[in-house]
Parts: sequence; C-alpha cells; structure tokens
Amino acid sequence: MTRAYVLAVDQGTSSTKGLLLDATGNVVAQATTPLAQTHPGPGLVEQDPLALLDSVRAVVMQCMKDHDPHAVAGLALSTQRESALLWDAATGRPLAPLVSWQDQRGGERAARLERAGLGAKIRHRTGLPLDPMFSALKMAALLDAHDPSRARSRSGALRLGTVDAYLLHALTGETVTEIGNASRTQLLNLAQGDWDDELLEAFDIPAAALGRVVASDGPFGKLRGLAPLIDGTPVLAVLGDSHAALFAHAGWRPGTVKVTYGTGSSAMTLAGAPEPAGAACSTIAWQSTGHTAYAQEANIRSTGRTLTWLGELFGIPAQEIIDLATDADAGDVTLVPAFGGLGAPWWDAHAVPVLSGFDLGTGRPQLARAALDSVALQVGDVLAALPPALQVVADGGLSRSDTLMQLQADVADVRVARASHHDLSAAGAAHLAGLRLGLWTTRILEERADQGLQIFTPDWDPTRRKSIVARWHRCLTSARDLGS
Ligand code: G3P
Repeated sequence: MTRAYVLAVDQGTSSTKGLLLDATGNVVAQATTPLAQTHPGPGLVEQDPLALLDSVRAVVMQCMKDHDPHAVAGLALSTQRESALLWDAATGRPLAPLVSWQDQRGGERAARLERAGLGAKIRHRTGLPLDPMFSALKMAALLDAHDPSRARSRSGALRLGTVDAYLLHALTGETVTEIGNASRTQLLNLAQGDWDDELLEAFDIPAAALGRVVASDGPFGKLRGLAPLIDGTPVLAVLGDSHAALFAHAGWRPGTVKVTYGTGSSAMTLAGAPEPAGAACSTIAWQSTGHTAYAQEANIRSTGRTLTWLGELFGIPAQEIIDLATDADAGDVTLVPAFGGLGAPWWDAHAVPVLSGFDLGTGRPQLARAALDSVALQVGDVLAALPPALQVVADGGLSRSDTLMQLQADVADVRVARASHHDLSAAGAAHLAGLRLGLWTTRILEERADQGLQIFTPDWDPTRRKSIVARWHRCLTSARDLGS
C-alpha cells in the first residue's frame, strides 16, 4: 500500500486538534479535544503536561478510527509556543505543570536583567524584547523551584523545553526542538540558529537541559507507542502554531501579513533577514530544505480572552458577547484590555486595563462592542508596526465574526481575506510534511490557500478612522500612565 496520508496534530492552548490528509490534501478525518488551564495565583497560568500528551493520543486515535495506520506516511506537528516544561530525562515524567506563554512569573527576573543592562543585547541576539511571555524566564523559574542549584539540569538528568520538545521526547524518545519554536524561547541566537551560550548564562539555564535545535523538516526521529500508528512512523514536520498558520496561507508571497485571532492574537509576515530593531519581534518562521525563513511577528496578549472574560462576568458564552457586539455601537466606551500588561507594539508589562467613556446608560451591548473594538484596534496597532500589507489573511476562532473582519479592514485601512478554514495550524504543518514527501508543490499550496477566501474591504473615510484611532491611543496612554 502507498503510504500517502499525513496525520497532523495541532497542540494549542485551549485544545488539541487532529487532521488526517490524503495525498491530494483533502481532509479525510478530524478530531478535537479541549484542554483546561489553571490560574493558581495572580499572573500565573498553568496546564497539565500529562493532559496535553493524553489529548494528542486522543486525537490521533479518533482520526485513525476508520483508517489504516499503515497508510500514514508520517506525523506533522504544530504547537503552542513559548510555554515551558520541565521533565525527568530518564522517565519523561513532568516535574511541574506547564508554565503557559500567558504566565507572568518571570517579571522580576526580567526587571533584574534589564537593570543589569542586558535588555538591548538580548533583543539584538534573539529578536525578542525582554518579556515574561518568552520561555527563558519561565524555564529559569521552573529551575529555581525544582533545581535551584542547577546540579541536576547540568548533569543532563532534567530536560527543559517548549511543547514541541516535550511531545517529541514523549513520542519518539529524542531530545530535540524545532528551530521556529526555539526562536521563541529567547535563548536562540537568531543569526547562528543555535542556543546562545552567553544568554544561557544570563538566564541561568544549563545547555545540557535543552534539546538539539533541528530544522522544521527534521530529522525528528520516529514514533513509538502512539497507538494506533505503527512504531517507526516518522515525524516529518514540526512548526510553531502561528508559523504553521502562516505556512497554510502560503504566506511566503510578498505583502502577505497573517493575523491569527485566538486567545491572544499574532500578526506575522516573512522578512528577508532578522530585523531585531523594530516594534515587532524578529523570529524564525521555519527552516526547510536548508533555507531559513525569518519573520516579523507582533503578539497581542488579550483578544479572544477579553471576550471570554466579559462573558464570564456576564455569565454568558463568549459567542453571545460577539452577537451582542454585532448589533451595537460602543459610543464613547473604550476598553483597553491590558490584562497582564500590553504586548506588541508597546511591550509594557506595567500597563493596566482601562475602561473609559461609560455612563449610566452603558449596558452589556456597548461593553461587548467595546471589547470587540479592542481586538481590531490592537491588531491595527501591530499592523502599523509591520511592513505594509497588501492583504491581511485572517484565521483563528474569532475571525468567524464578519463584524470583526469588517472592523479590521476599516480600522487598519487594509483588505482582509478570511480563510475558509479557521484552524490552519494543523493544515500548515501537514502542508510542510507533504512538501517533504513530494505529495504537492508550493504552487499547489498557493492555490489551496486562495480557495474560498472571503474578502472585506475598508469602508471608513479617513476622518472617522483618525478620530477613532486617536481616542483609542489616548486611552492606551492612560493604561500605561496608570500602571507606571
Ligand atoms: O504564542 C502563543 C501561541 O503560540 C499560542 O497559540 O493558538 O494555542 O492560543 P494558541
């Protein structure tokens, strides 16, 4: 039998998804398993590493229910990024909960490194600003709690890594990490494409605890014990989830900026070379067939999360917040959702949430609309910090809202093209795996990406846009002043 199926797994923050693609790229099976997060204290966000692994096993099992595992040519993986894990090298047993990318516990150490004058060097080497979102500070916190002397991590008895490294270790036994994921740790030297010794020392992380950095098309090793797949099935491709979505949009075409609307949001575009000086992060999108694709990325902490927060407050599902927002006008109500500070382009960990412009007549619809507006306005700010987009390609759960997509086109004055599928990360990883197998070409992937796009064009006159964006920026300034 021809082994021509690609099984893709997207391990994300709120769920793990599986997709089985045949040799023509058609999805023949899919599955989703939800995942919980815990908030054990202010600024702390964790997940259960074993639940993550179980969810991967569950979606693989479900996708393969009616299919022959002998037909699977390999696994493709996309993963949530920046989250950090610590596990025992010999047994694979996690020593602590996963520290989520949203977790803020590294703030104090970040301030110390900044005071020591290392901020600029770290930014220059890694492309990333010193911020608790990135893995290095989380890894250091994990070691402080479980290996304060660093003796066990130095001896190689402990492993530290991002979600890709943890899953690859669990599923293949290899201690490796994919370069795009590694570029989000703040320990990777962007220009050299490998761990930076000086930064490892600055963050107090022994190199022996980290996996070997490998390209996005491997080699990653072979699966063992991932039923019902056959032992020895190769892992063909691994990508960070945001990077995978960009790949699924065929985002290598000039002028394409991808926005994923999720818990937070990420705007990403390819760049010819590392550009660590701008307001956006410089990062590695992927490395394949020996070529490194650099990207600029701007991350917003709270977009979908703002809507779920408001839903929790009102005791209704987030979808109802979107429905309320759809028919409402926020009037003067402006919400700056600086939960845990502000990400790109401000990178202000001290900014605080601000709600302004409300009065006794303000009700749920206006607040819901202000929350939805905050998504488009924040994305508008990061689009302004990236190279000009000919077209914004949109994906992620929140992109299902026509109101939001139109608002985005209006606020940012740009054409927005929404993907027909909203969960592109698994597809992107599968596409890279299929390229490697020779199942399809980049040309075919471009045609696939353009199928069923829904277009939203800007409709506001410049005066309206200017006045709304100016009011937003005044509120942003308050959010930053109040927190300083
Ligand atoms: O940077 C964090 C991002 O990779 C998480 O994405 O889709 O799991 O919320 P998601």
